Amino acid sequence: MTETRKYTWPWPDIPAETLLQKARNAAERAYAPYSNFKVGAALLTADGSIVLGCNVENSSFSLSICAERNAVACMAAIARRDPVAIAVAGGRSGAPCPPCGACRQVLAEFNPDMLVVLESPNKVIVMSVNDLLPLSFSLKERM
Ligand code: THU
Repeated sequence: MTETRKYTWPWPDIPAETLLQKARNAAERAYAPYSNFKVGAALLTADGSIVLGCNVENSSFSLSICAERNAVACMAAIARRDPVAIAVAGGRSGAPCPPCGACRQVLAEFNPDMLVVLESPNKVIVMSVNDLLPLSFSLKERM
C-alpha cells in the first residue's frame, strides 16, 4: 500500500514498492564497515531507467559518500539529467531512512519536484524533495 500524501504516483508500470525493493537490494552492496549502517537508493529517470546507489565509507570518515549521492553520480555517468523519483532504504526494515541534508541539496539540483519514496511500518511514504528541503539553494536562479 502506498501512502502518497498529496501525491499521485504517475508511473503505474514501476510501482513505488518496486523502486523501494530495488533500493533495499542496493543497500546489501553498501560498503559500511565503520557505521554498519547500510543504505541503498534506486533512482528513476524520465525514460524509466533505474539507477542504483549505495553508501561507500572510508577510513577517513568524512570522505564517505551517501547512497543517494552515489546514485546521482551514476545517473550523470550514464548521461542522464532527468531524475523523477528516488527510493531510499536503510537500517531497520520498515523504518524510514530519509535523505540527509547534503543529499537533499544534491537531489534538488536535478529536480526539486522529484518524488522521494521511503519505507514506513505499513505504507510506503511518498513526498517530494521540495517538501524535504523547502527553498533549496539554486545558483541557476541567481546567474
Ligand atoms: N547515509 C546515506 O547513505 N544516506 C543518507 O542520507 C544518510 C546517511 C550513510 C552515510 C554513512 O555511511 C551511514 O549512512 C551512516 O551515517
